[in-house]
Amino acid sequence: MKKIIITGATSGIGRELALQYASKGNKVGLLGRRTERLKELKSEIGELAFIRTLDVTEHDKAERMYKELIEEMGGLDMMILNAGMGRIQMLPPWRAESKLIEVNALAFAHGCHFAFDYFKKNGGGQVVGMSSMAALLAHHRAAAYTASKHFLSNYLVGFRQKARRVDADITLTEVRAGYILTEMTEKAKGMFWVADVEKAASQMIKGIDSKKNIFYVTKRWRLIAWFAKCVPEFIWNRI
Ligand SMILES: NC(=O)c1ccc[n+]([C@@H]2O[C@H](COP(=O)([O-])OP(=O)(O)OC[C@H]3O[C@@H](n4cnc5c(N)ncnc54)[C@H](OP(=O)(O)O)[C@@H]3O)[C@@H](O)[C@H]2O)c1
Repeated sequence: MKKIIITGATSGIGRELALQYASKGNKVGLLGRRTERLKELKSEIGELAFIRTLDVTEHDKAERMYKELIEEMGGLDMMILNAGMGRIQMLPPWRAESKLIEVNALAFAHGCHFAFDYFKKNGGGQVVGMSSMAALLAHHRAAAYTASKHFLSNYLVGFRQKARRVDADITLTEVRAGYILTEMTEKAKGMFWVADVEKAASQMIKGIDSKKNIFYVTKRWRLIAWFAKCVPEFIWNRI
């Protein structure tokens, strides 16, 4: 039985990972801002679920909540840093941009830092970052989002190097997801190869549990990754 913390567990990918990991007998510590959703999830999963209401941008509170969940679960084997946001319509443009960076990049880095430190002191564990194909691309309509996933990806590379230098068995996994149907994408236009969240989460669990450094969900997105790496920037800018 693994003890797993999942941020952004109130909907979409995080919620589905929680349900599937719990159905395999693992303990799941679940976080998000929407308390009602967390309570629903707790009543669906039962005693394997532990919940805390949290805005991940509140770092001091996050640290307290992570520690409390670890205490309640009796340890930590895996930290899935999934909380994230896409475009925000309701805020003024710069406020929306900075909020997205705060959640997708800064709060991710804080969670990664916290988990790495815990695993270093406790012999090992796995940190999972919920990345995207956006980590490989830039887009004029989503500059902050694509940059935030570049950050996540690169941060994990640095921490993988750190992991080789410490006396603990720490795996850092980047999940590069293509389009998945969730609240984040339900109004998006022009998507293709869209996966349902159940299939995506089940592929993610296989990739995470085989302790890969990086993998694509669904698998066919590897083709686009290959394309993105081959196409020079001046051509990409015209596409
Ligand atoms: N769907 C896709 O096609 C796709 C593709 C690639 C990568 N991803 C990544 O997958 C992750 C999950 O997205 P999703 O598609 O499942 O979207 P979603 O259904 O909108 O889920 C986003 C989750 O993040 C949480 N969250 C957002 N801001 C937060 C904050 N400040 N503090 C705490 N939790 C926060 C939300 O919880 P609360 O609102 O309750 O706080 C929610 O549980 C994101 O990192 C996203 O970038 C998604």
